[in-house]
Amino acid sequence: MSDAFHSLQENTHWPDTKDVQAWDYTLGGRGRELVDNVIYEVNAGLLLEIGCFLCASTRRWLTKHPKLKVIGVDPWDDDLIRQVGRYIGRPNLTRKYPERATQMKMLADITNNKPFPTAMANVVEFRDRFIPFRGWSPDALRAIKDAGIEPDVIYIDCDKKPDELEVSHELWPNARITGDDWHWSRTKGYPMRQVVYAFAEKHGFSVEAEGATWVLHP
Ligand SMILES: C[S@@+](CC[C@H](N)C(=O)[O-])C[C@H]1O[C@@H](n2cnc3c(N)ncnc32)[C@H](O)[C@@H]1O
Repeated sequence: MSDAFHSLQENTHWPDTKDVQAWDYTLGGRGRELVDNVIYEVNAGLLLEIGCFLCASTRRWLTKHPKLKVIGVDPWDDDLIRQVGRYIGRPNLTRKYPERATQMKMLADITNNKPFPTAMANVVEFRDRFIPFRGWSPDALRAIKDAGIEPDVIYIDCDKKPDELEVSHELWPNARITGDDWHWSRTKGYPMRQVVYAFAEKHGFSVEAEGATWVLHP
């Protein structure tokens, strides 16, 4: 397993982040302690994160769990620039950076430096324990499985669709599955709750949730 991690690491391109400004801004919400608890419970060596954005959540796992390795899947494409543009002046970004000028600087930095180097600048000090895997789930998950990777914990924070749960469980039936978006969105009928409850019922898991975070228990 650790061989598979190292060989994937050796084949992974890291951008030059020397002059790149990191922006440690997370889209996730409360309740990540639930994931910490699962990491402790199974003594996890490897967490697979699907949907990393600027790697603020990734940074959190790596900081809080000094022995944990993380593989993060995300295309880190230019859509993230448009996404950040839409956050300007919105409550979540304004809570983190109250000054509009700071928000505009963030957008300008990500536009100029591009999303992938910006995200990697946020986790560069963890390069020995983090592998960025650029691509789209679920195809990327199959490629990661083909590389011999066996995560202990999977954290899903991307599309609010059933695919990530189903494919993760098919590929790694013993991995503990967790994720974000439990709180999103009341007006849309909390789509992630519906996905998680349906999956839990189908496969015989129980669900624990707090804030934005959910975890499945066997
Ligand atoms: C909500 S953000 C992730 C937030 C991050 N985990 C945090 O807490 O800061 C969602 C991310 O998922 C990525 N994404 C969307 N669809 C994806 C897919 N099918 N596979 C991988 N990543 C995807 C987007 O590029 C975006 O960066």
